[in-house]
Amino acid sequence: MQQEQQSILITGGMGFFGWNAAQYLRQRGMTVHQASSALERYPSETQGSIIPLDVLNTASIQAALEKTTPTMIIHAAALSAPMTCEQQSEVAHAVNVIGTHNIANSASVLDIPLVLLSTDLVFNGDKNTLKDGFYTESDTPDARIVYGKTKMSAEQIFFERTYANKQYERWIILRTSLMFGRGVAWANGFPHFAVNLLTSGKTTTLFTDQFRTPAYIPDIAEAILQLIELEKYGEIYHCGGGERIDRVSFVERYCAIANVDKNGIIACSMNDVPNYTTRVRDVSLYSGKLHAALNGNWQPTVLDDAFRQIMSL
Ligand SMILES: NC(=O)c1ccc[n+]([C@@H]2O[C@H](COP(=O)([O-])OP(=O)(O)OC[C@H]3O[C@@H](n4cnc5c(N)ncnc54)[C@H](OP(=O)(O)O)[C@@H]3O)[C@@H](O)[C@H]2O)c1
Repeated sequence: MQQEQQSILITGGMGFFGWNAAQYLRQRGMTVHQASSALERYPSETQGSIIPLDVLNTASIQAALEKTTPTMIIHAAALSAPMTCEQQSEVAHAVNVIGTHNIANSASVLDIPLVLLSTDLVFNGDKNTLKDGFYTESDTPDARIVYGKTKMSAEQIFFERTYANKQYERWIILRTSLMFGRGVAWANGFPHFAVNLLTSGKTTTLFTDQFRTPAYIPDIAEAILQLIELEKYGEIYHCGGGERIDRVSFVERYCAIANVDKNGIIACSMNDVPNYTTRVRDVSLYSGKLHAALNGNWQPTVLDDAFRQIMSL
């Protein structure tokens, strides 16, 4: 599909999603501005190209928008680690809810298309997905963990139009699952944190009983481009990967492709970790609505092919 040239501002643009998405979107010919609230975290040679933007500082949002004049915003900034959200619930609420409100306010006033990245963890995970089907957009969110609750509240901003310009409709909510992509030194997401431990001779403890539909970041970025191009606004879409899988099997599959010794994997149940608070059993996402909205022109990359792509980058 031939996309219009977009100028894309990504909040949280140096995070795991933001960084991987930026590489993909530039390859697709887009202009991408990666924003960060903490430029000092990144190598000095990259800092000059990063746009300062703290979602809790409305003046910095305004300045970033004036500087970049984006044709669309991907709002990826968040406190995204579930355990950190449990431990710092006030910060999680501020960044994930108030921060989203601030971004939505500015986007609404300027009528800039905005995509909010949300999560499968808005669901409680109790559904028997093998019997009753994966979670669809019609299922009622019922997060039991702080992270999921803050993301539910962030979604409500759009449904309730609590942003400044009540006429604004050019928003999209994309709920994705466990994201994977290429690792970078400062945003070493899944599966790299586990694989790096294994390759350095250490062990990694992973759950056998938490099921997700891991989503490859280039697939998510492509879905976003196509949704914006087709102006599929005012809706929520699920964007999961093509397979329901537990974390042990996921890392084992990567190890098989990357020729990494998997013996250091310690498989356990969530119940084996008594103080593990973000216990969510199965939040597999059904992405049929997204597939249909994009006229069948989008589908997730086969897991093993995605792993091969990551290795070749
Ligand atoms: N990773 C997953 O598996 C997954 C799954 C579903 C949904 N999501 C959602 O996808 C989005 C991206 O996730 P991710 O894995 O890329 O998370 P990430 O690596 O933690 O990136 C998010 C970034 O947000 C930035 N941020 C934090 N506080 C900020 C603030 N006050 N103002 C502006 N930026 C701030 C941080 O970068 P700076 O320090 O540079 O500002 C952080 O690196 C999040 O909304 C997350 O909820 C993630």
